[in-house]
Amino acid sequence: MALVTLEAVGKTFRGRTGSWEAVRDFTLDLAEGEFTCLLGTSGCGKTTVLNLLAGFEAPTTGRILLDGIPVRGPGAERGVVFQGHDSLYDWLSALDNIGFGLRLRGVPKRERRARAGHFLAMVGLEGQGAKHPAELSGGMKQRIQIARALAADPRILLMDEPFGALDAMTRATLQGELTRIWAETRKTVLFITHDIEEAVALSTRVAVMTRGPGGTLKAVIPVDLPFPRDRTSDGFMAVFRQVHALIHAEIVAPPARAEIDA
Ligand SMILES: Nc1ncnc2c1ncn2[C@@H]1O[C@H](COP(=O)(O)OP(=O)(O)OP(=O)(O)O)[C@@H](O)[C@H]1O
Ligand SMILES: [Mg+2]
Repeated sequence: MALVTLEAVGKTFRGRTGSWEAVRDFTLDLAEGEFTCLLGTSGCGKTTVLNLLAGFEAPTTGRILLDGIPVRGPGAERGVVFQGHDSLYDWLSALDNIGFGLRLRGVPKRERRARAGHFLAMVGLEGQGAKHPAELSGGMKQRIQIARALAADPRILLMDEPFGALDAMTRATLQGELTRIWAETRKTVLFITHDIEEAVALSTRVAVMTRGPGGTLKAVIPVDLPFPRDRTSDGFMAVFRQVHALIHAEIVAPPARAEIDA
């Protein structure tokens, strides 16, 4: 059985100006240990899918199962790394940010510190745990977010463009670190990006969405290449081209009618 199942999931937001169908008929299984990248153009519904899976939003149609049980809200077995890097608590040190979820669960201070320290080192920030978010660079804050999510030992890691706001070099470094961490932990990951190269570099498969409104799953491309990935290899280029063609078709397609209710 898949760890996570999204069954014909749809989400329509209703507001004062009408309603907006963000996601339509989205069906996808996530197997244990798999690293899936969810790729699509801006506004196609990627974050919406993640928010539904995280339990921050409820689907309008369809259902989401975790271990066969319907998701009814957020839970510690789903760790979230948000788009942007402003979700850390300013008043806590890096180490205490990492250990925050453990504190909520009543893990004693000594154990909390030890585990937070372990994950601080895992993201390459050993010795920098006393710094506060204001004293950290953007890339460091992203690492702390990843360490915080890992420290809670979730069944699945949900990552929403975690490297989107970083410069190319920091981004490449963190991509390499994430690959190493994934190889170590074999966590199930759903990683959102609109960067094709990033998707092919990190994942075991790339799920491509159509553009919105009513974004849905277009194709799932397996990435059966050894880690660490050589981005200049023929195999990498071949997958890149395949995914690029799928995405490009979404960019050049004629505008779809916005499904706004009167
Ligand atoms: N809370 C909300 N209320 C109304 N509409 C929303 C809400 N959240 C998202 N939407 C709409 O749903 C669509 C999908 O948004 P979403 O944030 O999922 O896109 P995305 O694929 O993550 O885009 P990006 O790559 O830019 O982050 C957009 O048209 C957006 O305006
Ligand atoms: Mg988004």
